[in-house]
Amino acid sequence: MQARGNWSSKFGFVMAAAGSAIGLGNIWKFPYVAGQNGGGGFLLIYLAIVATVGFSVLMAELVIGRSTQRNPVGALKRLQKGKLWPLIGYAGILTAFVILSYYVVVAGWTLAYIFKSAAGLLATADDAALGGMFTSFISDPLEPVLWAGAFTALTVFVVVGGVNKGLERSSRWLMPMLLALVVVLCVRSLTLPGAGAGWDFFVTPDWSKVTFQTVIEALGQAFFSLSLGMGTIITYGSYISRDTDVVESGFTVVTLDTLIAVMAGVMIIPAVFAFGMNPAAGPGLTFITLPHVFAEMQGGVVFGPLFFILLAIAALTSAVSLLEVVTAYFVDELGWKRRTCTIWAGVVAFLLCIPSSLSLGVWSDATLFGKGFLDIMDFLATNLMLPIGGMAISLFVGWVVPKEMMEEFCTGNPKLGGLAKVWLFFVRIVSPLAIFVVLLNGLPFVAPYLPWN
Ligand code: TRP
Repeated sequence: MQARGNWSSKFGFVMAAAGSAIGLGNIWKFPYVAGQNGGGGFLLIYLAIVATVGFSVLMAELVIGRSTQRNPVGALKRLQKGKLWPLIGYAGILTAFVILSYYVVVAGWTLAYIFKSAAGLLATADDAALGGMFTSFISDPLEPVLWAGAFTALTVFVVVGGVNKGLERSSRWLMPMLLALVVVLCVRSLTLPGAGAGWDFFVTPDWSKVTFQTVIEALGQAFFSLSLGMGTIITYGSYISRDTDVVESGFTVVTLDTLIAVMAGVMIIPAVFAFGMNPAAGPGLTFITLPHVFAEMQGGVVFGPLFFILLAIAALTSAVSLLEVVTAYFVDELGWKRRTCTIWAGVVAFLLCIPSSLSLGVWSDATLFGKGFLDIMDFLATNLMLPIGGMAISLFVGWVVPKEMMEEFCTGNPKLGGLAKVWLFFVRIVSPLAIFVVLLNGLPFVAPYLPWN
């Protein structure tokens, strides 16, 4: 009985955390960010960051969550009496809103594309036409906002009602289905005439294209994709029972997330080259390339809508994890009703998504440093808030409560003592230092004065 109970709770956690991690970040963002940053060099740097900084920060969040069984604010308050560290938890709540403000916009696009592809509106191999349709859709003042609203409502509905029931049960077969479909699309993409150049671009580093900016983008992308730096994994980790081996679960989540991101790259980038498109084209890449692949593929009429359905569900499990951080705080710490605070948070997220969506159309002239609202939110979250949050969590675990957290790391598997020491070295020194250096270089008013520049 005991062993079986453990297995099923570990499995449940891995599925939930993988559901949070795997989302638009993997399938929409990763291919276009890799494309913009020169391909192979970016991929290699990304993998190195995931294996070191990414994994160590993920483990830091997991042990905080499991040891305290609390939401991020409550967890940090419990571990340390001071006023300073719980700020990480509050910052996480703010970050959740910043991310949601544009996440639901792009997720809304995937909902719309389910219907557009099912209706045959995208059934053309003409990239200019597909690009035109995409641009005119996202710049429309009303349609994408309504889709974002629909997606936000779905997210609220899941968080209010059944995180554990419907969603967890269905993600057990929906996630494997997404994986299977991505494999099929990888094969299709790689066998297109002219795909070889795209494969080379994606896997062969061209170091002349790698700059410090590449490292910054890779770091931000790693945090975003692994759902790190704002307490999501603390929150999810707080539902794990205390006697399971967290290291293995953490490793599985990181591996699955990275596998899907890399496969999404293999699914998109060779096709981009085969169609003679520009890999640095930006956020439209997935939404323009894939409909073309479907249009020319056996069974594309079925695969197209199916793909966008699965992508929307992957986005939903991620958006749920963002909203859950906000809800967990209001419920645990302030004693609000789950339903009330979730609905209010949903309303705020929806209001924030309106300027994001409009910034791609009628408000495209309202810019700051050349970026519109959506780009500013993405920059703030991905390149600043998540890495800073991750650095703070890392320092907290490494210096404030190292002994407790080392023990927690090994709970459930005493053989992990050696690994725990390596991990401590990473959360104490390597990860915070790496993040700090990368962040400094990313600040335009600091970078020129650094000795190595
Ligand atoms: N990781 C998700 C994705 O790749 C997005 C996400 C969910 C997220 N929760 C998060 C990103 C928390 C940062 C922090 O789509």
